[in-house]
Amino acid sequence: MAKLCFWISIIATYLISAVLIHQACALTDPSDVAVLQDLYKSLNQPPQLVGWNLMGGADPCGESWEGISCSGSSVISIRLKGLELHGNLGGNLGNLLSLKHLDVSHNHIEGEIPSSLPPNVTHIDLSSNNFNQSTILLLEPMRYLEHLNLSRNSLSGTLGNVFSGFPNLKQMDLSSNSLTGDLPSSFENLKNLHELFLHRNWFTGPIDVLAHLPLHVLHIHLNFFSGVFPHQIDDIPDRRFHANNFYSPYLTRMGRDTLFTIDHQYIGRILAQGD
Ligand SMILES: *[C@@H]1O[C@H](CO)[C@@H](O)[C@H](O)[C@H]1NC(C)=O
Ligand SMILES: *[C@@H]1O[C@H](CO)[C@@H](O)[C@H](O)[C@H]1NC(C)=O
Ligand SMILES: *[C@@H]1O[C@H](CO)[C@@H](O)[C@H](O)[C@H]1NC(C)=O
Repeated sequence: MAKLCFWISIIATYLISAVLIHQACALTDPSDVAVLQDLYKSLNQPPQLVGWNLMGGADPCGESWEGISCSGSSVISIRLKGLELHGNLGGNLGNLLSLKHLDVSHNHIEGEIPSSLPPNVTHIDLSSNNFNQSTILLLEPMRYLEHLNLSRNSLSGTLGNVFSGFPNLKQMDLSSNSLTGDLPSSFENLKNLHELFLHRNWFTGPIDVLAHLPLHVLHIHLNFFSGVFPHQIDDIPDRRFHANNFYSPYLTRMGRDTLFTIDHQYIGRILAQGD
């Protein structure tokens, strides 16, 4: 009996110290762990998320959770592209203060785009999912954000006037949704925007707010934009604007993405084959 107790106490001591040591060595910032565990629940705890768990003392950085990378004790990237994920993103991603890269593209994630996303992020790719926002798209400022891709979802609201909060945005893709309304005036503040993709939506109104942006690529075809076509747009090297309702007072060239009216004539919708 004494011998049995001895061994039980040895084993118990070992187990308790293993737990204590594990907790003491847990690398990951507890607030980042809480956000990932909330995300795991919101995505319905799928088996594809290898290593993810809801245990107390969980350590995503130490335990190499699928798609997670860290720097020190902070989670800096979440890359979960094409993993057949369902569910939604939960409401806590905005608490991942050190996250730089968020890619959950090519899944089946639904619900609204959370207005609060990680504040320090540089890349966000939520494209090719089932996000189905129907109201105004509001995003809190993300001052380091450079790449935003929300294309190929089911977004159907209007854009909030939020674009003064993205001074470093270089590339934005909102294409292939059902977004409506005019472009908000704060687009003018996107002073670093080089590539903009808004094609295949239901946007309306003029595009004057784009005239002074440093764009190299502008794809706005298949919308309901209207008004006088700003001449600056014709200097953008990679531009596609057919199938809209523009006017042009000055262009005479002809072609799929070159306006062909003179003298303020209404040019109607230029529909190209294959669209
Ligand atoms: C956010 O990014 C800035 C600039 O890269 C950095 O100085 C700051 O420490 C970051 N904040 C966090 C919480 O990582
Ligand atoms: C955005 O995502 C879509 C679908 O994943 C992709 O086809 C497109 O090239 C991306 N846009 C940019 C600008 O990278
Ligand atoms: C978006 O999808 C969720 C889940 O399928 C559903 O509950 C919600 O009603 C949908 N919202 C819209 C606006 O379609």
